[in-house]
Amino acid sequence: MTHELSSTTLALLNILNDGQRHAGTEIAKVLGVSRMAIWKVVQRLKAYNIEIKSEHLGYRLESPLFLLEKSKIQKYIFKDVTLDIFESLPSTNDYLKNLPSAPPPHICLAEHQTNGRGRLGRSWTSPFGRNIYCSISYVFKKDISEMAGLSLVVGILTAKALEIVDQQFKPSLKWPNDIYLEGKKAGGILIDLIAEANGTCKAILGIGLNVNMKDILMRDVKNWICLEEMIGQKLDRNQVTGEIINSLFKGMEIFANRGLAPFLSDWKRLDFLENKKITLTSGQEIHSGIAKGISPQGHLFLELPQGLKQFSYGDTSLFKD
Ligand code: BTN
Repeated sequence: MTHELSSTTLALLNILNDGQRHAGTEIAKVLGVSRMAIWKVVQRLKAYNIEIKSEHLGYRLESPLFLLEKSKIQKYIFKDVTLDIFESLPSTNDYLKNLPSAPPPHICLAEHQTNGRGRLGRSWTSPFGRNIYCSISYVFKKDISEMAGLSLVVGILTAKALEIVDQQFKPSLKWPNDIYLEGKKAGGILIDLIAEANGTCKAILGIGLNVNMKDILMRDVKNWICLEEMIGQKLDRNQVTGEIINSLFKGMEIFANRGLAPFLSDWKRLDFLENKKITLTSGQEIHSGIAKGISPQGHLFLELPQGLKQFSYGDTSLFKD
């Protein structure tokens, strides 16, 4: 289902968010639609595993669910952009990849992804209405070869946005671009680059961030965390999304002009791995050594028995004996 989030869905949840039972006829009257239309929206929401109880010809929502709202997010964006919010998409990155690339930047958000993509061909768990699945398509007047370091910069800018949302968040970054809180993964970055014929390059900046999923936190995936867990209450995803977009646009201007260099000190401050013993998997190679920060190109320095070596890609984890 790729349709945009409907105003009826938003309005229905606004009514049900008080946790009380509301009769279908009452909701239909307030929203000026038929009871059948309300029933259909409820069935759709139930299909996303949202706990809406049907009781005595009425509906009750087990725990409140605040959906993304364009007007609330737009308050944070000081730039000419196109902003689309979908109820469900296969993947926000794939949606933008398939659109013609032309300025202004295009932002795509979804409440749910059926085929959310992670790095290295992994999938990205994307339950409805809990997290942030955000992609931004940005055209750089650069050759694709000049784009190294972009994914690190997007991680840095996302971490900085979290620091603005709440000082209790002390984010760090695990090379190349996992967003960490208290030593656990809270989010990740996936960049798709498309070289264009005229020497420009279209970048799709994909950000996935676990926000309000404490009660359903992937039981099957260890070592994960969400923002809610850190501060003990649900967060306004509109604010978090707005701050991330704002931070990204400010930073993209800097990256477009000066590359990774202005961000190296931020990386040093946020580096989760520095001076820790880690394992790096890079293609077929597996190395264990001490992480020693990044090069000006964003490559990871690893101190190995044979000396210092740098790696341009791979996956890192803390070393386990
Ligand atoms: C990772 O593996 O850590 C990167 C995860 C990136 C997930 C985001 S969610 C929004 C965007 N759309 C996708 O399909 N993936 C990225």
